[in-house]
Amino acid sequence: MPRTKQKFDLVIAANRLPVDRVVDADGEVSWRTSPGGLVTAMESVMRGREGAWVGWAGEAGEAPEPFEQDDMFLNPVALSEDEVAHYYEGFSNDTLWPIYHDVIVSATFHRYWFAAYEVVNRRFAEAVCEVAAKGATVWVHDYQLQLVPAMVREMRPDVRIGWFNHIPFPPVELFAQLPWRRAILEGLLGADFLGFQRVADAQNFIRACRQLLSLPTKGDTVSESRSEGARRIRASAVPISIDFKGLEELAKQPGTHARAKEIRASLGDPETLILGVDRLDYTKGIGHRIKAYGELLEEGRVAPPKQMFVQVATPSRERVDAYRDLRAEIEGEVGRLNGEFSTIGAPAVQYLHHSYPRNEMAALYLAADVLLVTPLRDGMNLVAKEYVTCRHDNGGALVLSEFTGAYHELHQAFVCNPHDIEGLKQTIMRAIETPPKEKARLMRAMRRRVADHDVQHWAARFLENLAKAPERGGV
Ligand code: ADP
Ligand code: F6P
Repeated sequence: MPRTKQKFDLVIAANRLPVDRVVDADGEVSWRTSPGGLVTAMESVMRGREGAWVGWAGEAGEAPEPFEQDDMFLNPVALSEDEVAHYYEGFSNDTLWPIYHDVIVSATFHRYWFAAYEVVNRRFAEAVCEVAAKGATVWVHDYQLQLVPAMVREMRPDVRIGWFNHIPFPPVELFAQLPWRRAILEGLLGADFLGFQRVADAQNFIRACRQLLSLPTKGDTVSESRSEGARRIRASAVPISIDFKGLEELAKQPGTHARAKEIRASLGDPETLILGVDRLDYTKGIGHRIKAYGELLEEGRVAPPKQMFVQVATPSRERVDAYRDLRAEIEGEVGRLNGEFSTIGAPAVQYLHHSYPRNEMAALYLAADVLLVTPLRDGMNLVAKEYVTCRHDNGGALVLSEFTGAYHELHQAFVCNPHDIEGLKQTIMRAIETPPKEKARLMRAMRRRVADHDVQHWAARFLENLAKAPERGGV
């Protein structure tokens, strides 16, 4: 029984809705912004477009009724307790996530997890078809929904289907480990256009189709023949970005500046404030960063209160073992460094395991002299772009891992290989010690890049590619 008769020309599907439903101890219901880069980016893209967003409301059980928010129609998809455990925590975050991130931790394979993934993907596909107008554009997001493109195509051959991967797509040698590799590739090939963060990700996908499905490929296209006839599917790089104007405006507000000053003052106005902002995820290289910083403390090259280090570690996927282990490891290490190197009122590492509103994040970025972005593998890393955007004063320095998508755009960053602890230490020191004039030159160039390639530019490029694919080549 359809829950709504409303139809939309643009429908997006992502594992999460832009807001999570939260029920407090008194049964009071509220809605909170969902975590992660996908929501940050898509929220600003969808503002004013009058589309529908199909996604999960973040808690197990019955789905809330569809509702409107900020010109968007939100169509919630239900997940049972078991589906949260098997589809979301299991197959998405304990099978696919490690395989797609260089197997930094080992992946777990369970057939019943994949069975739940199929069931949930089918439910998403049905929810998409429920709200898609005739000939609509359907934009599916990320690794949690890789079977949705083919499922939607089967039910609704009239719509255009695009898929964008917010995370890396692995080399075929790693992808091939997946017992369900064929089903996943065939699911994705239901799309007309597939967007990836980096050229290498798109090439990995094309190679997987050629080697594992024996499909003919040419440049950035894959050809397949089905009973309905032959099709060509394009896969190319369309790197994601952020709402430069909106965030810059927020960073320019006097209130944000006042809060940045207050943050610095509450840390004793250090000579250098060093910041890390990440979901508490093993892909982010938080441990490598803390190890390097710990050695700099031991060697006396940095010391509180002259140098203060603030690490914001956003809670994430807390019921998955690898994330629990990571939290224990990071908090243990932070505790050790604080025990050894803090002085009264000046912790060696100020560790914050919370989510913050956007204006507080902007103030933190403005307050920080150095931002450490040291992932071992990251699709893009929007935090790096947000930092650059907030620094309208051309202050600050960005230390950036070469294993992020952002590295391929922000060439003027202080680039590091987080596995090379000695090199990372030197890069952190260079970011601290480079003269402000030189840092301003680097920051100006990075800001120009993000300003010219903001999230609207990304969305427009993706949708243009989707509209043109495959008949007329790329844009
Ligand atoms: P990922 O999608 O893997 O989490 P990104 O760096 O691409 O990584 O995006 C993270 C997004 O989440 C950014 O928009 C960032 O501002 C936001 N974010 C990270 N930590 C926090 C936090 N503690 N409170 C609020 N927002 C956060
Ligand atoms: O970009 C990767 C991603 O999984 C997104 O889907 C999401 O925005 C973010 O990380 C947060 O993860 P989760 O939705 O599992 O909390």
